[in-house]
Amino acid sequence: MKICFLALFVLFFQLELLAIQPVKAVQNPADLLSVTYYLNTCPEAEGIIQQKGGFWMQKDPTLAASLIRLHFHDAIIRGSDASILLDYKGSERTAAASSTLRGFEVIDDIKAALEKQCPRTVSCADILTAVARDATVAAGGPFWEVPFGRKDGSISKAAEAEKEVPQGHENVTALIELFQVRGLELLDLVVLSGVHTIGRCNCSTVQDRLYNYKGSRKPDPSLNPFYLTMLRRRCRRSTDLAYLDVTTPRTFDSVYYTNLQRKVGLLSTDQQLYSDQRTSPFVDILATQPFLFESQFVVSMIKLGNLQVLTGKHGQVRVNCNRVNGR
Ligand code: HEM
Repeated sequence: MKICFLALFVLFFQLELLAIQPVKAVQNPADLLSVTYYLNTCPEAEGIIQQKGGFWMQKDPTLAASLIRLHFHDAIIRGSDASILLDYKGSERTAAASSTLRGFEVIDDIKAALEKQCPRTVSCADILTAVARDATVAAGGPFWEVPFGRKDGSISKAAEAEKEVPQGHENVTALIELFQVRGLELLDLVVLSGVHTIGRCNCSTVQDRLYNYKGSRKPDPSLNPFYLTMLRRRCRRSTDLAYLDVTTPRTFDSVYYTNLQRKVGLLSTDQQLYSDQRTSPFVDILATQPFLFESQFVVSMIKLGNLQVLTGKHGQVRVNCNRVNGR
């Protein structure tokens, strides 16, 4: 009986100890980001980004799409750390997968203005993320508050971009995996792909769909025949450009999804989202619910911008977005 009491006492005591032991929770670095991050150190930051970026996009409205894409290419490799901006032999930026990226000069211009106003304070990764939001708004899409506080990384490898960045020839399984390992779900994939409601594509990417799909010497059977004829005319040279959304190419809307239902998606990766049973139900819903597209786009973009962020002592604030400090 005594032993029994003693055992219970020891057990109780240990449980108590467990209860007062501080639990070492692993904090997600993205939780350290905050919309008020620059409130005291550079309250003008967002305004400067918006004003400078807005100036460029007004001069050349096609830059809006390019700037959103730049943010995606950054975030998908090593997270949202501005690794895409580093410019040296063998960096992501020099990869073939990055060859059609545009808008680097916009980021440089914004960064120069920010360095004048608040030196060594605003990271290039935060600039990229905020510009992508402003570009979405400029194209007619939704606004959202961007959480700030990312630091810039110092590693950038072309080989990683070559291997990971989707080029438009992948199958849906590969896209799902690419997103899933980064914590992005099926819905994020379908919703973020919806940004192809704006922007353009080099015809070289879709040439195979027009003439020799998967080595068949025939066009992609999933292409609407009228659209095929139109595209063959549009894409005489591989350097020509075609709109990703043939119906409303410059407006941020959910027509991208109705295009897929009509088999007029430009990229094979886009069109497959409608032929694959895992993703097609999302396409059907988003095609009929523009509000749902906009609100979920905001959620998915914030997730994209929060991927694997460096915060606090990790990373640095680059002085020049193209170079790691001191190199
Ligand atoms: C899901 C897989 C994706 C694939 C396979 C893909 C592929 C492509 C390709 C091949 C182009 C045309 C590039 C060119 O020829 O210049 C393009 C353009 C574009 N992509 Fe994606 N993309 C994907 C996801 C995304 C995501 C998640 C975003 C942003 C959130 C994005 C934003 C854009 C934009 C805005 C353009 C137009 C760029 C311009 O007009 O300069 N893409 N994409």
